[in-house]
Amino acid sequence: MIRLLLLLVSLLAAGAVGVRAQHLLDWSPEEIKAVGQHGPWPPPPARDPSNKVSDTAAGIALGEYLFNEPRLSGDGRMSCATCHQAGREWSDGLAKARGAVELDRRTPSLWNIGYLHWFGWDGAGDSLWAQSIRPLLDPREMNGGPTRAGELLRSDAALACGYERAFGNTPGTDDERLLVDTAKALAAFQATLVSPRTPFDDFRDALVAGDRESASRYPLAAQRGLKLFVGEANCSLCHLGPRFTSGEFGDIGIPFFVRPGEVDPGRHGGLVRLAASPFNLLGKYNDDASGNNTRRTRHVQRQHTNFGEFRVPGLRQVGRGGPYMHNGSLATLEDVIRHYSEVSPDRLHSDGIPLVRPLGLTAGQGADLVAFLRSLDAEPVARPSPAPLCP
Ligand code: HEC
Ligand code: HEC
Repeated sequence: MIRLLLLLVSLLAAGAVGVRAQHLLDWSPEEIKAVGQHGPWPPPPARDPSNKVSDTAAGIALGEYLFNEPRLSGDGRMSCATCHQAGREWSDGLAKARGAVELDRRTPSLWNIGYLHWFGWDGAGDSLWAQSIRPLLDPREMNGGPTRAGELLRSDAALACGYERAFGNTPGTDDERLLVDTAKALAAFQATLVSPRTPFDDFRDALVAGDRESASRYPLAAQRGLKLFVGEANCSLCHLGPRFTSGEFGDIGIPFFVRPGEVDPGRHGGLVRLAASPFNLLGKYNDDASGNNTRRTRHVQRQHTNFGEFRVPGLRQVGRGGPYMHNGSLATLEDVIRHYSEVSPDRLHSDGIPLVRPLGLTAGQGADLVAFLRSLDAEPVARPSPAPLCP
């Protein structure tokens, strides 16, 4: 009886090993190079020369405090964290963001936001801090008004102390300056939101290092999906680099009607707002005296093809988020893949050379792409609760 049991146990163990043992597909040197450029991960901490408190401990601490501070809003009830929730990949799980009213766009995740150069779905911000001013003022979002941040920093002892630690002086009377500084602290905090390493990263490192044994632990479906992603399906044309985004804009044929007769102009409208903003990098609040970081803002030009273009989202943690796209119009990753498989070329708004074409994927190929995308997910490390600003 015992022998029989032992036999059974060893058979079961062998079966389990048989299931676990994966194979490694053949990877050409070109493919290994294409996969390699999606790492290594994580990247070094982001630093923004236009923001003097970026990558400083005191700036980050103040920013984390302010990020969760509802008193920055007009009705004292909404903070950044209302829509950008730590437990929801720094988004809210809604198709369209809900502030004072429902907005026309989805709340983007803030993972890896510090490594971008254009912000918002339409690129209306050219720095993370400028982008962080908008929700503070926007009547549809926090509706705080231009003086609220200043009043709060002056009147709250802990915040005033945190401000002095970060900026080296007590909060003065210049409310616009204090609004900008609030946003700079918020930006310093957000730039620390770096997504965790994933099964894809382990595979990528093993493949690049020629470690076949470790590489073969990556599921075959994800390997096949990755091959499509960097190869035939050409996804990495736009979703490139370690963050899986170029940081630029594209048109993949998502309908841009907001309501009958009204469109979301995307990048085209973003460039109008960028030029009009007193907080862009050409203005007086850019802390980088060298002016090196103004080149993009100075040279960018609005073109007709910018209509209906939206910023290419990064894909890390994508399977843990959703719904997808700037307007939350696709519910699942399967829907996204179906979109790329079937998109009609007539749906593309741009008049240049279309960069996407209907891929006509088989069901198996679609499932492989989803398996690959899901390998970009991992459970984030829990954040320690923030220390008091000035103990
Ligand atoms: C009512 C929900 C809501 C609140 C509150 C909110 N946001 Fe957002 N956030 C959004 C939406 C929607 C967008 C996309 C805006 C766009 O594209 O025009 C966005 C975009 C952003 C972006 C750009 C992300 C990217 O991928 O480029 C940053 C950064 C950001 N928010 C930071 C903040 C900060 C900081 C606060 C608090 C001061 C805040 N948000 C408050 C909904 C919200
Ligand atoms: C021409 C550039 C381009 C190509 C090629 C491309 N994408 Fe995208 N992708 C985008 C843009 C732009 C968006 C956002 C569009 C919008 O919101 O209107 C997007 C959105 C997505 C999203 C949704 C992410 C989110 O957070 O909402 C996923 C997932 C995605 N793409 C995966 C893929 C895959 C898989 C492929 C290959 C089959 C691919 N993309 C090819 C530009 C591209």
